[in-house]
Amino acid sequence: MTKSALQIARAAYQPKLPKALQGPVAAKEGAATQSVGDQAKIKELFPNTYGLPVVEFVAGAAQTFEPINVGVILSGGQAPGGHNVISGLFDGVKSINPASKLYGFILGPGGLVDHKYMELTADIIDEYRNTGGFDIIGSGRTKLEKEEQFEKGIEILRELNIKALVIIGGDDSNTNACVLAEYYAAKQYGVQVIGCPKTIDGDLKNEQIETSFGFDTACKTYSELIGNIQRDCNSARKYWHFIKLMGRSASHIALECALQTQPNICLVSEEVEQKEMSLDDVVNYIADIVAARAEQGNHFGTILIPEGLIEFIPAIKKLIKELNEVLTDPATGESREFESAEAQIKFVKGAIAKDNLAVLESLPEDVARQLCLDRDPHGNVQVSLIETEKLLSRMVAKRLKETGRAPKFSAQHHFFGYEGRCAAPSNYDADYCYSLGFNASRLIASGKTGYMSIIKNTTKPAAEWIAGGVPITMMMNIERRNGADKPVIRKALVELDGAPFKFFAAHREEWAKNTCYVYPGPIQYFGPTEVCDQTTKTLQLEQA
Ligand code: FBP
Repeated sequence: MTKSALQIARAAYQPKLPKALQGPVAAKEGAATQSVGDQAKIKELFPNTYGLPVVEFVAGAAQTFEPINVGVILSGGQAPGGHNVISGLFDGVKSINPASKLYGFILGPGGLVDHKYMELTADIIDEYRNTGGFDIIGSGRTKLEKEEQFEKGIEILRELNIKALVIIGGDDSNTNACVLAEYYAAKQYGVQVIGCPKTIDGDLKNEQIETSFGFDTACKTYSELIGNIQRDCNSARKYWHFIKLMGRSASHIALECALQTQPNICLVSEEVEQKEMSLDDVVNYIADIVAARAEQGNHFGTILIPEGLIEFIPAIKKLIKELNEVLTDPATGESREFESAEAQIKFVKGAIAKDNLAVLESLPEDVARQLCLDRDPHGNVQVSLIETEKLLSRMVAKRLKETGRAPKFSAQHHFFGYEGRCAAPSNYDADYCYSLGFNASRLIASGKTGYMSIIKNTTKPAAEWIAGGVPITMMMNIERRNGADKPVIRKALVELDGAPFKFFAAHREEWAKNTCYVYPGPIQYFGPTEVCDQTTKTLQLEQA
């Protein structure tokens, strides 16, 4: 395989570890924990994994361990640093006992169920250190939730003598990891399950998890591109760039990119919901800024749009809620099957309430269609497929025309998501991910199950990072999903009283009126620490 010069140089990078993980560890246990909501129900559903203490690793006495075989799964969308979680896990497992083995299940959780796996040897691991992507074993979105899947899983785990499984995923995948941990514990199968917090979306975070891995690199990559567009925009001065950013429901990515690049407009879905804005209100908000800039002779600008925006417009949110209900078969709790997309849309239109039907029919056909069609395996509307950037620019153009303002309005459209999900991890993600993986091996050696690997204090130098584990049940509550009440990890949306949003809100008027663009440039892997080792603005503001 031909490698780029950067790939070759980057392979030699040795990710940093927290001090506590640099030698033998002891697990310092805190008090018993509680779930973030619905305690009685979660306790009942997870009798074996509920209430466990948070764990912190501190320096301990050297011990000898038997070899242990470990399995690893990459679940869901790609996020920069996944390969480093695996290389950290590999090094950690080998340091427990060099005869230990690491097996990777191919193409996500489906690999466990279908018994598709490979042994990850040192040669393979070395090819992937510090690289982006999940291609070492591939990823997938199969939802692990049924007993028969868990039983298929245990067959192959027994065959390979695997005693612990590490699931690298987002909130939904870690919810499933917890269900699996509980199931194997209840059955006394002797297999531990550990999760790792992955997702570029940044929505898997809480008091214990500072950030999900990949968020740092993905936002820096998008911010580089946005900065480049802003330079172009400020040079030609003739286009408004409508830039949609991935992130599912949460607007963390859009907000972080706004903090890094200072665009003219950034929409924050959580605020749109709080202010109960209609689609028309959003369009008017943008049109007013476009018109005000045009009056100053500025016929250009940038606008960041979180991909989940339309889910947060209250009327559409209500519509999606009913769509989710009617698309679920109450007998099985599974999605209903239809012969064709047309049949599905016809069924939906006949099944939903009148007011929701009116909202559906008021939407442009392509958007209405996408809302009615399939969800991903976890029941989420596939917001990345809805072209909100085009929808908004069309509506803004119409509004400006109707009101005779900004006659020179001309738009360009972009959607950034896949461009950043497999970027070579920044130093932050390279170190953070390696530490998460290495730390998972220490949770395994301490006999933990139903825990997520956590690394905290990450705005400080890596040596001062704190390593440990948090019981996954602690992050859970009951939510309505796919027409049924389910125990799930609570998703972290942008907090409107949090420091990152407040900073943005305090500056956005100035950024809208004047041209205050910042051009962050590409991620730097070698060079001065203030250039290479900056964390996200979100984390800096949150930890300040
Ligand atoms: P997860 O990390 O939650 O799996 O999602 C990341 C993500 O990039 C979202 O931002 C986006 O909506 C979705 O994946 C796109 O999914 P797909 O890769 O299946 O097109």
